[in-house]
Amino acid sequence: MLKETWKIYTYESVSSTMDQALKLIAEGSQFAVLAYNQTNGRGRQGRQWQSLEGNLFTTLAFKPSQPCKTWGQISFVAALAVGEVLQNYLSNQKSSHMVQYKWPNDILVSGKKIAGILLEIIDASWLLVGIGINLKNSPRELPYLSTSLKETEGIAPLPEEALFLLTKYFTSKMNMLEEKGFCEIRNLWLKSGAYLGKEIEIRLHKQGLIEKINGQFIDLDEEGTLLLELPNKEIKKIFAGDILLQD
Ligand code: BTN
Repeated sequence: MLKETWKIYTYESVSSTMDQALKLIAEGSQFAVLAYNQTNGRGRQGRQWQSLEGNLFTTLAFKPSQPCKTWGQISFVAALAVGEVLQNYLSNQKSSHMVQYKWPNDILVSGKKIAGILLEIIDASWLLVGIGINLKNSPRELPYLSTSLKETEGIAPLPEEALFLLTKYFTSKMNMLEEKGFCEIRNLWLKSGAYLGKEIEIRLHKQGLIEKINGQFIDLDEEGTLLLELPNKEIKKIFAGDILLQD
């Protein structure tokens, strides 16, 4: 079980909260790193994460009690926690501001990316859950649409306030995972899963090359693997990759 209180290490600027968390893992068993700026923030697939002023950059570091091979499920837990943080600030009336989860670990508002999650496993004992949320600014010139809370709702909470909520919701969802298993987390995720039932293109990254596969996103399995129905009706399991809606 995770403790409800997280020790927070706060910095004005770091290379990446992931690097900083790695330096601190001798310090305790559960903590969060918060930085107001990152000079070398990173995203999935070795991509850069633009660290714009006023946004949240954090890494939650802890030793999960679950077997290491299931830790990928924790990115769904983190996505739900981020979703709850966003719901907290989004007005209920504006249903167009709907929060959606995009496999494997993006969070969308109004169909645009507002947050991303990066998991890193250290020595099969520590898990670093890196989370970036666009509170005040959204990056431009990206191959996908992005937004921020400021753009959608006109408010930009302080990073430390958003982190307080995030640790609270993350702890509660981790406890749900522990007590009820992944099925509950998967069901919650699927309720707001983006592109479910839609024709999508998957981009698989293989030794610097990109392989594209088209099919219908039909479900997630019990491990969080994406199930894609190919044109010949064969079901293909997708373990990693980027998904796009087919034109
Ligand atoms: C992605 O969508 O590709 C994942 C982005 C993860 C960004 C966060 S910001 C805090 C933490 N530190 C990093 O360098 N990356 C993660």
